[in-house]
Amino acid sequence: MSALSIPSTSLADGTPFPLIGFGTSSMRGTGAVEGIAAALRSGYRLLDTAAQYGNEAAVGEALRISGIDPDEVLVTTKIAGGDQGREAARAGYLESLRRLGLPRAGLVLIHWPNPSRGLALETWRTLIDLKEEGLAQHIGVSNFRPEQTRELIDATGVVPEVNQIQLSPALQRRGTVDFHREHGIVTEAWGPLGGREGLGEQFALRRVAEKHGATPSQIALRWAVDRDIVVIPKSSDPQRQRDNASLDHIALDDADRELLTTLDLGEEAAWDSREHEEW
Ligand SMILES: NC(=O)c1ccc[n+]([C@@H]2O[C@H](COP(=O)([O-])OP(=O)(O)OC[C@H]3O[C@@H](n4cnc5c(N)ncnc54)[C@H](OP(=O)(O)O)[C@@H]3O)[C@@H](O)[C@H]2O)c1
Repeated sequence: MSALSIPSTSLADGTPFPLIGFGTSSMRGTGAVEGIAAALRSGYRLLDTAAQYGNEAAVGEALRISGIDPDEVLVTTKIAGGDQGREAARAGYLESLRRLGLPRAGLVLIHWPNPSRGLALETWRTLIDLKEEGLAQHIGVSNFRPEQTRELIDATGVVPEVNQIQLSPALQRRGTVDFHREHGIVTEAWGPLGGREGLGEQFALRRVAEKHGATPSQIALRWAVDRDIVVIPKSSDPQRQRDNASLDHIALDDADRELLTTLDLGEEAAWDSREHEEW
């Protein structure tokens, strides 16, 4: 089987960044290492994990058994809510590196702002230090609303390179995506298949998929990639892993895009990080 050829966007400093990465949450236990290694072997070069997922060791092991040069792979991990703070974030991150078996991660994100703790800014200062020390290649945030991101920028002058947010045709998040564009922040979509919102059953999505001889998942991913948004679909199935990263044959037109616009449930349907916290 030929390796997938995955398109890239660029981080603010010009570093190429794959537009299609691989999500790993819920990949634990039997089959997790093999499943993640299969994704690497088929061509994925961006992996998404987090301290909270309890699978960083499996991700590290998958990288080792895959036979892929680790320098070619960008591993993302995230600082858990309970590890926020100046020193705790550093200690938590070093534990992540130990579990991954890597000297540095490709990208480190603050997993959720968790405003009740009031520690996001201190955590951000630690990520800035980790990058300066060469312990993290790139740094960013996840689930930050524009005003929460702005607070970090105003206080430190350092712009997160990536914000990973809940986004799919069912949650288009246009205001947040526009804010990212203005500031040179790459938008990365979690839940890009919209399963939590029942996106796969939507008639409009199915109609566009039939027209292009594609699956509804592929249409959801193509739509995001066309907007220069990074997607990180998770699949334990090698065939679906390949399908999710094989989008070159799909060219959406204006009529398709118009139809997909109607699927947006609006900002209020997304998890609200002023209230939703994770630890
Ligand atoms: N930052 C955050 O707060 C946050 C939150 C949630 C997720 N994430 C990250 O984002 C990644 C993706 O999000 P997600 O896992 O929630 O959702 P997702 O990738 O949108 O959907 C995954 C689900 O869709 C199924 N699936 C995958 N490909 C498919 C296809 N081609 N056709 C039909 N079904 C398919 C998978 O089942 P099979 O495995 O059986 O294929 C799985 O049940 C996560 O793995 C995680 O790394 C981050």
